[in-house]
Amino acid sequence: MTAHVGKELSLIFGGILDVFLLTSLEQEKLSLDNKSAKASGVVLVENEITRITEWNFPKCGDNTGWHEHECDYSVIPMFSGILKIDDGTTISESSVEIGKPYFRKKGARHDVINGNDFPCSFIEIEYL
Ligand code: NI
Repeated sequence: MTAHVGKELSLIFGGILDVFLLTSLEQEKLSLDNKSAKASGVVLVENEITRITEWNFPKCGDNTGWHEHECDYSVIPMFSGILKIDDGTTISESSVEIGKPYFRKKGARHDVINGNDFPCSFIEIEYL
């Protein structure tokens, strides 16, 4: 998700991306990316091979915001429950299981929404 955000951050930090530096500034940057988005993303690892982001959805209905995946990616859910996927035409529901990853090819365009009445999160691994 939001593959271009990391590139912008790379420019800001001159390529020296360190998870210990990515605190409030990154949160602000990620939330500015889509004003309707209520989920927050924290980049845990970024290098020339991969970017690993933890996405947190505090409430039911919280969403990533509309985005297009520019890279193949995997998602590891940190909860068991429902992710709603808005592809711009329909909203579908995906059952996910804690710790059970799924893989998607680049090109996906969607908004991802917390479909649970509890906070949820997942780890996204992008293959740059
Ligand atoms: Ni996505």
